[in-house]
Amino acid sequence: MTASITPFTPATLRPLTLGRFTIESPLALAPMAGYTDYAYRHLVRLLGGCGLLYTELISSQAIHYGNRKTFELFTWSEDEQPVSVQLYGSDPAVIADAARSVVDRGATIVDINMGCWVPKLAGRGSGAALLRDVETAARVVEAVVQAVAVPVTVQVRSGWDPGHPTAIEFARAAEAAGVRLIAVHARYARQAFAGQADWSIIRQVKEAVGIPVLGNGDVITAADAARMLAETGCDGVMIGRAARGAPWLFRQIEHELRTGEPLPLPDPAERAAIALHHTRLAVQTLALPEPIAILELRKHYTRYRLDVPGAAEIRRQLVQAEALADVERILLPLAAGVDPARSAWVTWEVESGEQAAGSGR
Ligand SMILES: Cc1cc2nc3c(=O)[nH]c(=O)nc-3n(C[C@H](O)[C@H](O)[C@H](O)COP(=O)(O)O)c2cc1C
Repeated sequence: MTASITPFTPATLRPLTLGRFTIESPLALAPMAGYTDYAYRHLVRLLGGCGLLYTELISSQAIHYGNRKTFELFTWSEDEQPVSVQLYGSDPAVIADAARSVVDRGATIVDINMGCWVPKLAGRGSGAALLRDVETAARVVEAVVQAVAVPVTVQVRSGWDPGHPTAIEFARAAEAAGVRLIAVHARYARQAFAGQADWSIIRQVKEAVGIPVLGNGDVITAADAARMLAETGCDGVMIGRAARGAPWLFRQIEHELRTGEPLPLPDPAERAAIALHHTRLAVQTLALPEPIAILELRKHYTRYRLDVPGAAEIRRQLVQAEALADVERILLPLAAGVDPARSAWVTWEVESGEQAAGSGR
């Protein structure tokens, strides 16, 4: 049924161009610290519908001062491109140097975080705090644009203090400095996640600049995405929280926006296979001992909607798992019923137990 959706034609979803990439689906997975690691991004890419991915945020200071562990923690790889590697920092020279380092290590797009409000970052002038001082913010993006030959993108909030949408003035400065795409989370930093996103700020940013603008904030369904595109004129939609535990969401939303018809959700067996694939990839690619990697996955297990009888008990067992073998014991029997006609890659994965992904970096 399409009744609740603004009628959409394929032309409404226009591809984005960013450096060497033509991005067919203008839907983006928002950067989310603790969630959007390589394993999760790989899964989103595999399931389709998402055009642009972002890494979790990375400290430019840590990179600049040669913290090897920082690089071990972060993985990006050719098989998930295009992916924007997100840096934070407020010192133009330091963040420019960090940008050069990540590009030397294969980054193809660099994103600058101006959306994070947590005191650890914003208290030191980074993240959304830069939106209190548009001049410094402009110097930061200018330094990064000049340091690297790859496209530079920025993610901003509406501003710092409610009622002061400095994102609009900043967006103009960022465009003048050579930034190629801007994503706007339509809340003020002081709001954190409270209240509803005010999408009118996205429209104002879009009207202020010629570069592509991604709208962000509170999109959960295809109908929300359709409404954001229609109300703001934005070029694409970035989705964060709704994609946790639902790496298939982009495929669903893209299909519905392009055709006007909802796509059936992956069936429970397929969802179990996806959760298992996620686990295997994370254990393989997180630079952590297996028990710690499994511990890290708990937050995902609490969000995966398995929709099978006894799902609550299964979730309880999953969050108590200590090793990959424990998770396989729980999920393999559920995944075994996967329909090969619907999900060839999942069947392959379940039968062979092999990893589909490369080893990352
Ligand atoms: C757990 C979590 C971690 C986040 N980490 C980052 C981050 O590393 N960098 C960033 O720019 N935004 C981060 N965000 C903000 C999201 O990218 C996004 O702007 C926000 O969640 C609003 O989108 P949504 O309503 O679709 O969730 C994070 C959000 C959440 C919930």
